[in-house]
Amino acid sequence: MSEARDIFDLSGRVVLIVGGAGGIGRRMAAAIARAGAQVLIADQDSGRCQELARAIADEIGGRLAGLAMDVTQEAGVVQAFAGLGQEYGRLDGLVYNVMAKPSGYYRPFDQYPWETWRRVLETNLGGAFLCCREAGKLMLPAGQGSVVLTASVYGVVAPDQRIYEGSTSAGNIYGGGDPLSCPAAYSASKGGLIALARHLAALWGPAGVRVNCLTPGGVYDGQEEAFHQAYQARTPLGRMAAFTDFDGAAVFLLSEAAAYMTGVNLVVDGGWTAW
Ligand SMILES: NC(=O)c1ccc[n+]([C@@H]2O[C@H](COP(=O)([O-])OP(=O)(O)OC[C@H]3O[C@@H](n4cnc5c(N)ncnc54)[C@H](O)[C@@H]3O)[C@@H](O)[C@H]2O)c1
Repeated sequence: MSEARDIFDLSGRVVLIVGGAGGIGRRMAAAIARAGAQVLIADQDSGRCQELARAIADEIGGRLAGLAMDVTQEAGVVQAFAGLGQEYGRLDGLVYNVMAKPSGYYRPFDQYPWETWRRVLETNLGGAFLCCREAGKLMLPAGQGSVVLTASVYGVVAPDQRIYEGSTSAGNIYGGGDPLSCPAAYSASKGGLIALARHLAALWGPAGVRVNCLTPGGVYDGQEEAFHQAYQARTPLGRMAAFTDFDGAAVFLLSEAAAYMTGVNLVVDGGWTAW
């Protein structure tokens, strides 16, 4: 029993969560801190990151800090990683949780703006490239590290269009003036992350750095009831995910328990992709 606990222990590790102020990211930050790691929460708004770091530290007593990072700004990303290398002297884990919903995000495919496509790919996938490149500069010389790229079921399978039937523009909780859907740009960016993880796993495996994907299924966030019902009916476990459903998988992939796992896509989707 005590052996099982030890292999999930992250004490002494420094873990950076990019997109760490988001719905899933902030829950993972707390779970990773609870497992003993020093957690750095990076997101666009430094005030929000610092506030969140303080709130989690107050609640669980861990060591957390917040920092600003816009993953589409190369110079800023380079500077942020160099800064944390100087300040902490190590980086043991990187979790990449970023996703963008720029203007035009929910437009139908035949009207999809090029600029929106470009921004989604640049943020979801291009930002992961930049963060991995800079994390590698800290992890490779140390001969160890774990990178976790948060993908999606839509990087694995196509969206079942039937679950969006009955969705309305007015009822789209994410705004944007169009009904809820999964844009092709999102699917392409998430499929790209899975390929990037495999590529880096092979490239960096000999140096002791592991790279994996964590694939969440859809989280219930107050979406329209027709969508919610259709999603639940399509899911073997009979419900949408909670924001905390991915905490265990994130801690696992960062820990010694996953020491022999690299290039894998760990799917946590209630069975969505099982049929
Ligand atoms: N929520 C779901 O249903 C679901 C399902 C499958 C996969 N995912 C994936 O999980 C991850 C987290 O999702 P979430 O629900 O927490 O989303 P979220 O929108 O709450 O979090 C995403 C975070 O990324 C940040 N971000 C956006 N652009 C950025 C930029 N340029 N630089 C830095 N940060 C930026 C946002 O500020 C936000 O905090 C995403 O990669 C998403 O694709 C989510």
